[in-house]
Amino acid sequence: MHLIVTDTREEAVNRAAGFIAGLVAQRGDPVLGLATGRTMEDVYRALVARHEQEGLDFSGVTSFNLDEYVGLGPEDVRSYHHYMRSLLFDRVGMPSSHTHLPDGTAHDPDAECAAYEKAIREAGGIDLQLLGIGDTGHIGFNEPPSPFDSRTRCVRLDRQTREQNAAMFGNDPDAVPDRALTMGVGTILEADSLLMLALGSAKAEIVARALEGPVGPEISASAIRLHPRCTVILDARSASALSP
Ligand code: F6R
Repeated sequence: MHLIVTDTREEAVNRAAGFIAGLVAQRGDPVLGLATGRTMEDVYRALVARHEQEGLDFSGVTSFNLDEYVGLGPEDVRSYHHYMRSLLFDRVGMPSSHTHLPDGTAHDPDAECAAYEKAIREAGGIDLQLLGIGDTGHIGFNEPPSPFDSRTRCVRLDRQTREQNAAMFGNDPDAVPDRALTMGVGTILEADSLLMLALGSAKAEIVARALEGPVGPEISASAIRLHPRCTVILDARSASALSP
């Protein structure tokens, strides 16, 4: 695991955006695994800035997002489909045929998850998977305990996660969907490389547990330590509970 700790939040975001931009510029047609959530908002803004100011070309990029809430359609402003279109896809000219998120309104969620796995395989697998970390230690929506060989599936969200994500739902955790479709830990570990970003003191304790505690299904983010090509970018605050 390659650990980068920056002094400021801005530096951490720029390092993460630079990492992704470097792959896009070098490869032209990479398959990116993308994440949502507050942490990633500034990363996508930084990528949009590189597109607008430096001509970073996303026309060859294919993407697969980690997850989507069950019951929210792509036009719902609280959906991750909407988040991705408004923060990245529409701004850098990625056509919808190149972008993939699980369909939270699928009538048969199991079939949808199997089709999602198949689509990732048919794209040749994910080159770089971007990851945040949730308060429960989840990556994607892999709540504890999530076996390290788990695949894309329908999961029940922890109360703590619904509280974490309540802002988009009128600050009411009960209004946050209680289920989601998510790539599994096993799906994530198959990406060619992983890039985790965590920001701010609220993440410090869970980051320390994930990076220094026992590796196991109780903290799905601990699985990244098993990956041979994994970079973790932290700002000083999110790194503050790590041992010196
Ligand atoms: C989102 C996702 C989650 C988030 C995590 C952190 O697609 O997969 O694992 O990365 O919940 O969310 P924020 O950045 O909002 O703290």
